[in-house]
Amino acid sequence: MTTADTKATLSFSDGSPSVEFPIYKGSAGSEVIDIRKLYGATGKFTYDPGFMSTAACNSSITYIDGDKGELLYRGYPIEQLAVNCDFLETCYLLLNGELPTAAEKKKFEATVTQHTMVHEQMQFFFRGFRRDAHPMAVLVGTVGALSSFYHDSLDITDPRHREAIRLIAKLPTLVAMTYKYNVGQPFVYPRNELSYSANFMHMMFSTPCEEYKINDVLVRALDRILTLHADHEQNASTSTVRLAGSSGANPFACIAAGIACLWGPAHGGANEAALNMLKKVGTVDKIPEFIAKVKDKNSGIKLMGFGHRVYKNFDPRAKLMRETCYEVLNELGLHDDPLFKLAMTLERVALEDEYFVSRKLYPNVDFYSGIVQSALGIPPSLFTGIFAMARTVGWIAQWSEMISDPEQKIGRPRQLFVGSPARDVPAIDKRG
Ligand SMILES: CC(C)(COP(=O)(O)OP(=O)(O)OC[C@H]1O[C@@H](n2cnc3c(N)ncnc32)[C@H](O)[C@@H]1OP(=O)(O)O)[C@@H](O)C(=O)NCCC(=O)NCCS
Repeated sequence: MTTADTKATLSFSDGSPSVEFPIYKGSAGSEVIDIRKLYGATGKFTYDPGFMSTAACNSSITYIDGDKGELLYRGYPIEQLAVNCDFLETCYLLLNGELPTAAEKKKFEATVTQHTMVHEQMQFFFRGFRRDAHPMAVLVGTVGALSSFYHDSLDITDPRHREAIRLIAKLPTLVAMTYKYNVGQPFVYPRNELSYSANFMHMMFSTPCEEYKINDVLVRALDRILTLHADHEQNASTSTVRLAGSSGANPFACIAAGIACLWGPAHGGANEAALNMLKKVGTVDKIPEFIAKVKDKNSGIKLMGFGHRVYKNFDPRAKLMRETCYEVLNELGLHDDPLFKLAMTLERVALEDEYFVSRKLYPNVDFYSGIVQSALGIPPSLFTGIFAMARTVGWIAQWSEMISDPEQKIGRPRQLFVGSPARDVPAIDKRG
């Protein structure tokens, strides 16, 4: 970051002396006002619930321009990465800053592959959960439990590299084990000759009686879902990972904290909600009635999979996911699937409706990813688990960046206290 020519001046209406703050500019996007000296100079904090106007770090990993509908990983547009690279190349890019050469790619794939198995003892953790436990509950627990296997790993000379590899490698195994435990089938071990995404499909859908037949179109679809969700700048779960990690906590425990945050319906749960919404609408003839309810502010009903806090013109990931949706449904002969037809009609109706057009509400990636995952055979309750599997690389890249940032400090937001001022504890017969 470089210092901008302008400075910001804060003045007060009560005549207190004004204070000057430096402004920094990054390589793209909004400039930031450095208010670190604010409290020392004025005795005042800023008030910004939800961090609507606060940059908590500088980062060189992911850039989003919501107005332009632009998402860049290390400078590369998501549209180009999704078409020209696979998920592991994207992981390498996010972690290392550059795309791998052919030799680096081969080595990285081999290293990840060698770490896909989890300690045999992990299965006993699974057996401690109720069989019908929500997959995210199981993932928070089991990813956190990995810290007990690698507790000393922070002391190893290059810890971040090893933790990143282990996490990227083991998440698919844990997600698939979560599914198998839930449906009551034996756990399936990873197979080293398969690609990252093909191996995940194998661990999900093979059984001891029948090997899952790998379908390249479906594997590519899963790989694209992973690429599109790999990182998204300083969102709630990423900020959670950074905050947890700022105390020096074990990286596996930090990722478990990120998974806990992602679980919420306002964050990672939207694709499940979008699919449930489609099922609830049911048939094409019910669309007008449903749209009328969405437009009625008192109904509390939203068109799930539409709108985004950051993207206000279009979500670049949605276009790619829409393409994948067509590919998968064609491959599986599901293009006449009633749910898909319903989704496409709903999309068209909403995109032509003044309510959505005037509010710049467009389909987001979740509108389509639920349909794709459903077609792949993934149950809706596991959608957020797949998201966690994809986002793990983003979390660990951001964690790693934070750990090596000399300006990094333990995260400690302040507050505006509105409770009771100091008072004396009354005797028990004088209370009430
Ligand atoms: C993502 C989301 C939370 C972004 O919200 P936001 O940036 O705060 O946008 P706002 O809530 O300010 O919405 C602006 C207007 O559009 C309306 N709106 C936003 N999303 C809407 C939706 N999905 N359906 C219907 N109306 C919607 C709001 O009611 C508001 O209307 P108003 O100006 O008349 O009051 C919101 O669009 C949403 O809930 N979408 C559905 C859930 C979803 O798909 N989430 C996944 C995100 S990847």
